[in-house]
Formats: sequence, C-alpha cells, structure tokens
Amino acid sequence: MSLTTRLEVIDVAPRIASEIRTDLDTLLSGRESQHIRAVLEQRGVVFVRGLDITDEQQVTIARTLGKLVANEGDGGIYKISLDKNVNQKADYLKGSMFWHFDGSLQPYPNLATLLRAITLSEVGGETEFCNTYAAYDDLPQSDKELIADLRVVHSAERSQYYVRPEMSYEELSLWQKSPTKACPIVWTHRSGRKSLLLGATADYVIGLPVEDSRALLARLRDWATQPQYVYRHRWQPGDLLIWDNTGTMHRVLPYDENSGRLMHRTILAGEEPLH
Ligand code: OGA
Ligand code: MN
Repeated sequence: MSLTTRLEVIDVAPRIASEIRTDLDTLLSGRESQHIRAVLEQRGVVFVRGLDITDEQQVTIARTLGKLVANEGDGGIYKISLDKNVNQKADYLKGSMFWHFDGSLQPYPNLATLLRAITLSEVGGETEFCNTYAAYDDLPQSDKELIADLRVVHSAERSQYYVRPEMSYEELSLWQKSPTKACPIVWTHRSGRKSLLLGATADYVIGLPVEDSRALLARLRDWATQPQYVYRHRWQPGDLLIWDNTGTMHRVLPYDENSGRLMHRTILAGEEPLH
C-alpha cells in the first residue's frame, strides 16, 4: 500500500515561515492538524495560498487546530480594518504597526491566529513576523544570564504611545484604567523551549533604572527583529496565514486607513498560562 502525502511543507526562510501546499479537503478534515501544529510551533508562521475559502471554512479549519476564543468576532470571524465603519476599534488596531504579540495582557496569551486576506491595500500592508524562539536561542550566554529572571510590566497605555505620542491627560487616564500585567522576558514553555517576550506593550523592566530598562528592551527588540529571524509576508488575495502567537512577534507595515485593506481573523485560545 502506498501512502500519498497530502501535505507538503516548503520552508521559505531558514529560521522562520513555511508554505504549506495541500488541498482544502485535507485542511477541513483535520487529518493533518497535528502535523500542522507541529510545523507551526517549529516554524512560527505557516501559510496556504490559492485556496478560495469561505468564513465558515476558515472557522472549521481553525477548530481542527485548537479551541476558538469565545466571543471574538462574528461567528469566529473578526474584521481587521483601519476603517472605523468596518471596525470601531480601528484606532486601537493602529498599534499593530509596531512589533507585538497578541494578548500580552491576558492570563493566557492566544495560542495562534489565522488571518485571511480579503482585500489588500495597494501600498504597504505586508505583515512581518519574527521568531522569538530562534532569537532567544542565539543570544550570547551573558545576555541569557542577564535576563533569566527579569520581569517586564506590560500595559495598554504603553502601546498607545506608539500610536498617539502626545495623548491628552484624559486619554492617558483612560488607558491607565486597563490593568497591567507582569511577564517574564524569557518564556519557558511546557516543551522546555524558551522564547523572548517583548513588544509594544512592554513598558518597563522591574527593578532597573528607567534608562537601563528602556535600553535593554530596545536592544532585545533590535536583536529579535534582525533579518535572519524575520519573514515578511506579501499578501495575495485568499492567502490563509497562521502564526504561533507564543513564539513570534508581528507587525503590519503602514497602510492607508482608506485603502480598503480587510483581513478576516480567527483566534485560537492560549493553552499555556503566562505568569
Ligand atoms: C492582528 C494583527 C496584522 C495585520 O490581527 O493581531 O496584528 O497584518 N494584524 O493586519
Ligand atoms: Mn496583532
């Protein structure tokens, strides 16, 4: 009996991202879901091109890979757009133009996100990802020791400074109402693998003088976003891309809020607490 492979994995860069070539039936059936999850964890980003799928099929595929986050979007589909008529939180979404991972303020950061390109912008709108496992692995031993026990306070307020550098007192007070959360810089996962936790919500390192804290966070972000850890996805309509939100950071390159860019997003619930 010959077993035909229904799924082919093509690495697009040495340290991050693979294209998966398969057919829609295979994705919908879930028979390769363990395989896809393993590739996702190893490669940080996987994507499938050229499948013409519906929202329902996107959600079905997501369900083969994990548990959906309850109350996210309409029937499991959340619209990513900078147009306020499409998404009322468009202003908040502008924060996604800066390196981040999703759910940094949640007890269980999302496991993974599925993003499907519906309408693209003519200019900009590519999404970049960096592999924070690979970036950690390559750190000099001295840095690994330096950051081993350090913790960072994450806040929504901090990430808003990127979007609106001169917030009014009222705006700032509003953001300060959102609870902050302390996270380690190094996430030791159940698997034993370690990744870096940084991003736009990372406000300050507990116990360090302000300048040292800012310098360390910038230095580690620069390190983690070096070209060898980064993959830039140039979207084609219909692309379905999945990122491992626990082992990558991402950002979207600037695009016009009137460009019509629209992505449909489905989120998988985190399976590992972060504390
Ligand atoms: C997100 C996000 C990037 C993009 O959905 O969390 O950051 O390319 N999106 O729209
Ligand atoms: Mn995001």
